[in-house]
Amino acid sequence: MKTTKVRQSTKSGKNKKGKILICRKSSCDKRGGKKLYRALGETLHKLGLKERISIEVTGCQKQCKKAPSLILMPGKVKHADVSPKDLGSLLKTHYQ
Ligand code: FES
Repeated sequence: MKTTKVRQSTKSGKNKKGKILICRKSSCDKRGGKKLYRALGETLHKLGLKERISIEVTGCQKQCKKAPSLILMPGKVKHADVSPKDLGSLLKTHYQ
């Protein structure tokens, strides 16, 4: 998994409402994006984050070679080559 911090919000993303932007275009879907999308909802539920973190499907996030790709908001933190097993620690770190 590769992480690129594009812009850091001045406030921490913890305990605030947030959004996950997940790419569902063909490069990402072919490289595990479908499984990642399904796992995202399940992981948010397991972590008790479903009420305050929404999921939004996007077009290409210009990280196709490192697909699948998602962006965690607030903070616009880009993550590429994400696997479902990475989600738990990724979401805990960003949102809890
Ligand atoms: S298709 Fe997902 S980043 Fe381009």
